[in-house]
Amino acid sequence: MAERAYSGPMRVFSGVQPSGSLHLGNYLGALAKWVEMQKSYDCIFCVVDLHAITVSQDPKRLADQTREIAAAYIAAGVDPERSIIYPQSAVLAHVELGWILNCVARMGWLERMTQFKDKAGKDRERASVGLFDYPVLQAADILAYRATHVPTGEDQKQHLELARDIADRFNREFDIPNFFPLPEPMTTGPGARVMSLKDGSKKMSKSDPSEASRINLLDSNDEIVRKIRRATTDSEPLPHVPEGLAGRPEASNLIAIYSALAGVSEAEVLNAFGGRGFGEFKPALAELAVQKLGPISDEMRRLMADRAELDRVLSRGAGRAREIADPIMAEVRQAVGFWRP
Ligand code: TYM
Repeated sequence: MAERAYSGPMRVFSGVQPSGSLHLGNYLGALAKWVEMQKSYDCIFCVVDLHAITVSQDPKRLADQTREIAAAYIAAGVDPERSIIYPQSAVLAHVELGWILNCVARMGWLERMTQFKDKAGKDRERASVGLFDYPVLQAADILAYRATHVPTGEDQKQHLELARDIADRFNREFDIPNFFPLPEPMTTGPGARVMSLKDGSKKMSKSDPSEASRINLLDSNDEIVRKIRRATTDSEPLPHVPEGLAGRPEASNLIAIYSALAGVSEAEVLNAFGGRGFGEFKPALAELAVQKLGPISDEMRRLMADRAELDRVLSRGAGRAREIADPIMAEVRQAVGFWRP
């Protein structure tokens, strides 16, 4: 018999780790999408500090890194009155549900996760257990709020599919159809996979040792211009249609970045720049990037100077998040059969 569909409210959940400066990939793959989504959905945007400590962090800096990510959310356009912004570690439901879901997820599912393989590298034995378990905590983040939609960059697709599998297995194991929704990954669209400026086959990443590979949200205008000018490219002129970008990863990346920043299709970008060389295209891209990112970094700096205000946003957000998660966790405990007086 076909199962009845989940009928709870639509809710968006997503998060960023406070583990280093945010870059253009984080902005286009996540933050920019969130700003659009908050217009139509109830949204929860978490600063995932529990995830950040799966690799070593400086305890003296972690709280400030958390404030910086919250500042980036707001500077990018997330409205803290409308959407919930809070630190993950301030809401214990993540940890509690994370443990319960550890007992639902299977080792074999986690062993297939490519991000763990990439991050642990050759020295798997020395990786933290938390790094291996990272995707289960991510599933708990989403399901503790019964979130239905999860906007992230493309690199998170596998983790989000795992979250669906975990939700489905929980529903079946405890025999409560639709207890958890199967959250919908939203990992496509322009900017979903921004590549390194130095190597079009690698994604733009916080952990790339080359600063020139990424544009940070706090880069000065001059740095943005210089990094785009020095971005690796081939020597051909730009094609007139997107099909002509096949086999040209660096050109594809710069066109995708332009398209995402300008909010126009790649076909439109190539319509304007087809036949021209990078000597003409790069300055136009740099100008657009400065125009879009400059105000965000100015606003981030302004917000970061007012630590008390950021702390108010984070505390209020944590309170609102608990109000949603607490009753769901009460149902989870009952479903699992834990003692209660
Ligand atoms: P994090 O902090 O590694 O990445 C934050 C967001 O940035 C996106 N992203 C990119 N998008 C496009 N191009 C890139 N080069 C690029 N690099 C990063 C990521 O896809 C992500 O959306 N595991 C999550 C954090 C998390 C989470 C969650 C997300 C924890 N719990 C629950 C959603 C729901 C992560 O990748 O963080």
